[in-house]
Amino acid sequence: MKGIIMAGGSGTRLYPLTKAISKQILPIYDKPMIYYPLSVLMLAGIREILIISTPRDIDLFKDLLGTGRHLGIEIEYAIQDKPNGLAEAFIVGEEFIGNSSVALVLGDNIFYGTDFGHRVQEAASLEQGGIIFGCFVKDPSAYGVIEVDENEKPISIEEKPVFPKSKFAVPGLYFFDNHVVQRAKEVTPSPRGELEITSVIDQYLSRGELSVKLLGRGLAWLDTGTNESLLEASNFVEAIQKRQGLYIACIEEIAYRREYISRTQLIELARPLMKTDYGKYLMDIANEESSSVPFLFSS
Ligand code: DAU
Repeated sequence: MKGIIMAGGSGTRLYPLTKAISKQILPIYDKPMIYYPLSVLMLAGIREILIISTPRDIDLFKDLLGTGRHLGIEIEYAIQDKPNGLAEAFIVGEEFIGNSSVALVLGDNIFYGTDFGHRVQEAASLEQGGIIFGCFVKDPSAYGVIEVDENEKPISIEEKPVFPKSKFAVPGLYFFDNHVVQRAKEVTPSPRGELEITSVIDQYLSRGELSVKLLGRGLAWLDTGTNESLLEASNFVEAIQKRQGLYIACIEEIAYRREYISRTQLIELARPLMKTDYGKYLMDIANEESSSVPFLFSS
């Protein structure tokens, strides 16, 4: 399976913060926002990744992440000329996707929780159909909303409904088979003028090819859509990292623990960062006893 990170958009809801810079490069506590969705794909075991952003911002991501070789992955880049909607990821990414199945993660979605690594790894083994997730939220009307029956079988999906049919918001993480490219091309713009991801999902649903995984209380899905939620996400990451001493979305750690890079490579990545806690954390990992924390990284 290949992976796409959608990191474009206009970011107007965060102006003036994002007037001159991409939203997905803004800090969430100690690292750029895009580290979080990138870590999700890496946890899923996906090593071929396409980052899609705007003509203005794409170079920022190239500067930040390069070819990905230092992380034992391959990163390519593509431009979405205008924020025409999330379904366009599969059209812009058609050549990159080739004959593969594909995961899409939104560049501003943050996930953290028990067993999450296993769950996404499992989803990445998909061969046919589509998999989406459902997260219980207080007010789902700002999101895609999935209605399911008592067996978690999907009934309907709607984008930002005024009267949601359930409390399950669909987070920005989707797994599809290769038909997604064709299906994305069949989507027509919604009333808000976008090629909606929910329209792609709806095609899988109506063919009986969609499966929904509900994420329980043990999973935190954080929004970064407003100044308030941006700050809350930073505070959340700080609290967990300080308390546990284990980092969220540390892409170098994931690369090492997934054995994409060696201990020597990890030390090389840590060395220029030794003035920071982040660098020291990487060095501690390189120096840890191999038996000290494996259960903490079973995901
Ligand atoms: O966060 C989950 C929600 O994301 C889902 O529940 C919705 O179904 C889905 O439509 C989407 O809703 P949003 O309205 O929150 O999406 P937004 O326009 O904020 O875009 C999400 C990210 O994707 C954001 O980082 C910008 C980027 N983006 C967005 C569009 C429309 C692009 O890169 N290109 C685009 O054309």
